[in-house]
Amino acid sequence: MPSTDLADFAPRLVHWQKRHGRTTLPWQHTRDPYRVWLSEVMLQQTQVSTVLAYYPRFLQRFPTVQVLAEASQDDVLGLWSGLGYYSRARNLHRCAQAVVGLHGGQFPVSAQGLQTLPGIGRSTAAAIAAFCHGERVAILDGNVKRVLTRLLGFDGDLAQARNEALLWGHASKLLPSAALLKAQPAAMAHYTQGLMDLGASLCSRKNPQCTLCPASGLCQAQRSGTWHDFPVKTRKLKRTAQVMWLLLARSAAGDVWLHKRPSAANGQGIWAGLYAPPVFASRTELAATLPRRLQTRLQDGSALVHALTHKDLHLHPVWLNLPMPSVLAEAGQVQDGQWLAAAQWPALGLPAPVRQLLVSGPNGV
Ligand code: ADE
Repeated sequence: MPSTDLADFAPRLVHWQKRHGRTTLPWQHTRDPYRVWLSEVMLQQTQVSTVLAYYPRFLQRFPTVQVLAEASQDDVLGLWSGLGYYSRARNLHRCAQAVVGLHGGQFPVSAQGLQTLPGIGRSTAAAIAAFCHGERVAILDGNVKRVLTRLLGFDGDLAQARNEALLWGHASKLLPSAALLKAQPAAMAHYTQGLMDLGASLCSRKNPQCTLCPASGLCQAQRSGTWHDFPVKTRKLKRTAQVMWLLLARSAAGDVWLHKRPSAANGQGIWAGLYAPPVFASRTELAATLPRRLQTRLQDGSALVHALTHKDLHLHPVWLNLPMPSVLAEAGQVQDGQWLAAAQWPALGLPAPVRQLLVSGPNGV
């Protein structure tokens, strides 16, 4: 008779992770909190395959938390360019400054201490503490919620904070026992990585491979054939739309007029801290900032839609070729920018659709 005891879950997962989990990712085999933290922040909303390209480049440029703390925000956003969700990069920089300024250059050791830092939530803090120090503490990111709700047959609606709190409680109860950790000091790291690996492989959203799963026999959803019912989350994100008219002024040399977008009071705001052309709510507003003689030279590009998590950006590029670049500096709202040459664009923090527009030019080539 196979076991149905959930106490078997942790030892089985640890065993499975060692044999079948991922073992060659560049942020494994280090217990340096700086390296682990950087990987966890990059992986928060980005696939492993994408992070693999960015991670070594970032470490090469910012080898220590001190170097990162002392870098300019422009340098950090420039290297982050293309990873998206730029609040992560702004928090990353603030976090490095807090580690250096408030903690003597050492990351706090406990998950609780890590959570006080910018951009480190409960699950990320737990992952860092488990990987670096073997702390017995639970993670619960999107993939892990799927694994655990299936395992437990947990059908509470995770849109309600009360149910999410209950699931955190269950996640803590499933952790490796003190006896297992004593016998295998690395068990917390294998267990934590095992949850991530299971969620990214066998326990996939659409085609779970339950027969190969280390939780086979323990898993409620497998036993009842109801894996597709988990996790339960009713609230759908309401998508909104925002129209943005972009003034893409180009000099004869191909330089483009860009400015660094300000952060709103909460440090958020679309493209905050990134370089972008001047943005307007309508074409009329865009044209109105220019002297009349320039208005007739405006050239409309093709509109494009760029999807963010909660919002579709409807972007309308309007090009303006200027043989005499200096005139733009006189024009009202666009005065705080600068001319930036194509050779400078790669190092700038540019929103992905802006980079695409700059590279393809007015004729969309
Ligand atoms: N996603 C979040 N953290 C991860 C990690 N350490 N390895 C692989 N995928 C992850």
